[in-house]
Amino acid sequence: MQDTFLPEALLFFRAILYNILMSKIIGFGGENIVSKLNNDTVTKIPFGIRYFINPLATTNEIIADLKVLQVFFKKYLAPTKIVPRKNIFGIQSYTLTQEYIKGAPLKKSYLDNKDVKQQFLEIMKINETMLKSENKSYEFFGAWTLTFSHIVKKMANIMVERETNRLYIIDIGVLYLGENYHSKLLGFIYKWAGRKQEKLLEGFWGSLPL
Ligand SMILES: Nc1ncnc2c1ncn2[C@@H]1O[C@H](COP(=O)(O)OP(=O)(O)OP(=O)(O)O)[C@@H](O)[C@H]1O
Ligand SMILES: [Mg+2]
Repeated sequence: MQDTFLPEALLFFRAILYNILMSKIIGFGGENIVSKLNNDTVTKIPFGIRYFINPLATTNEIIADLKVLQVFFKKYLAPTKIVPRKNIFGIQSYTLTQEYIKGAPLKKSYLDNKDVKQQFLEIMKINETMLKSENKSYEFFGAWTLTFSHIVKKMANIMVERETNRLYIIDIGVLYLGENYHSKLLGFIYKWAGRKQEKLLEGFWGSLPL
């Protein structure tokens, strides 16, 4: 390993170790380890299949997807920044920082609240527009719910702020529904996830007068 990469590598491991030791980790899904940086901010370190298959392509996708989400979901996206850094192999990578949302992931029962339901319907409409324009869908449920939907019943990528009932989208993950993914395995995962998401969304949509 080249010397120049060493400090980055040490910083990366030190950050993970520190977060574990200090019990700062508040969540992890299919793509990130999420830690609390302070009362108002979380950091997300990439850690998933897509990233390990191709860190550079994933970094570029996340940068591009964040831009797309900032356009379409401007109203709902939790304020998010990309902090560039090199990973342990010296490859250009990133950490995300994001506003910490004091609340809980969206559950179907929360849609009984008129404000929550109205925001959710708007998010679904925005998603249809983004899908038509970019061939990308927001990934609503997260890896755990998609995989274990019979046990995990939450829409993990939308959070409801406790005090205001405001909805936030907190995940930069989108499903690529075209052909532009960087490995066959990812293509397979996106297709599976797209189908599963459609089925799970019916459970949410199904109960709503449109
Ligand atoms: N800004 C935030 N405020 C509060 N909690 C958060 C925030 N971002 C993430 N979390 C918590 O961490 C979990 C995982 O975060 P995130 O969805 O970003 O990770 P992921 O690995 O990309 O997930 P996925 O499985 O959808 O790919 C969330 O479901 C949530 O519980
Ligand atoms: Mg998620």
